[in-house]
Amino acid sequence: MLDLDAYKTYFLSYMKAQLPQREPRNLYEPIEYILQLGGKRLRPVLVLMSADIFGGGREKALDAALAIEIFHNFSLVHDDIMDDAPLRRGKQTVHEKWDINTGILSGDAMLINAYQLFENYPAEHFKPLVKLFSKTSIEVCEGQQYDVDFEERDDVTIAEYLKMIEFKTAVLVGAALKMGAIVSDASEEVQDTIYEFGRLLGIAFQIQDDFLDTFGDQAVFGKQIGGDIIENKKTYLYLKALELADSSSADQLRHLYTISPEEPLSKIETARQIFEDSGARAATTEKIKAYTEDAFKHLDHMPVSEKGKTFLKAFGTNLMNRDM
Ligand code: IPE
Ligand code: IPE
Ligand code: MG
Ligand code: MG
Ligand code: MG
Repeated sequence: MLDLDAYKTYFLSYMKAQLPQREPRNLYEPIEYILQLGGKRLRPVLVLMSADIFGGGREKALDAALAIEIFHNFSLVHDDIMDDAPLRRGKQTVHEKWDINTGILSGDAMLINAYQLFENYPAEHFKPLVKLFSKTSIEVCEGQQYDVDFEERDDVTIAEYLKMIEFKTAVLVGAALKMGAIVSDASEEVQDTIYEFGRLLGIAFQIQDDFLDTFGDQAVFGKQIGGDIIENKKTYLYLKALELADSSSADQLRHLYTISPEEPLSKIETARQIFEDSGARAATTEKIKAYTEDAFKHLDHMPVSEKGKTFLKAFGTNLMNRDM
């Protein structure tokens, strides 16, 4: 096992070596841009870590890790178009720096590049890896569609929200860990348990992302603060506030999420105040903690070393305390 930073460095040096300058530049430059813009590299690190924990070794997991990171970045390029987002990792989004058509096609090429990386695996790993990848990517699309559909709906429930974030975000975290188990030839039971750990951690991760979108520091978080409020995203903060606020604040909040003012600052400020005063902010922090602890419970019955478990718990705890 390496420490977290060392996994990241190990992954980045592999990624760099796999990113030759290709033509046409207008297709590949945006791909190089987004992939080198930084980011936490959580998903590839999870693939590598998992392969070390389950005994396959990180080297075998490199192409799966790269595939997942390229897929993740593809999903961000298209997501930023869909969310009309100006900033990603503190820099211009691809469609802002170039244009929407560039974002669409470069994103498409990334998705295909991600698939191609699995061609480097022998048949016994290729099939389960691609199967998992296809299932996961189609769920991400479904989650993204729910996310967009919910912008226009005023009757979204917390259960629906949780399903949506499970699909758009959490399944990829689960898949990252499961891929490490697959290349290590771990039993199906182990594969399913580590997937479940990742899925629950991924749900906590997305609730936290929504929290930081409202209460984070733009310079650290790297995304436009209040972007979810501007886009009328039905997040946990919002849904919980509707549940907890007095009826006049709840009505005010519901109304705010039907309008799209030219100048959104006061909408953001008012929503934030209602989240705070209603107790939704505190309830959201609690929910993140509850999902993280729930994830940890799945580690208890897993046949891995104490060291491996400690590592995964440290990873989860770090995620919960992140501010970027
Ligand atoms: C952002 O993911 C998209 C979500 C699913 C919340 P990350 O927060 O992992 O983004 P980077 O790769 O570190 O920038
Ligand atoms: C992103 O959700 C999920 C995917 C890209 C699949 P968000 O829209 O909340 O992610 P950010 O906040 O833009 O990173
Ligand atoms: Mg977005
Ligand atoms: Mg989105
Ligand atoms: Mg977000």
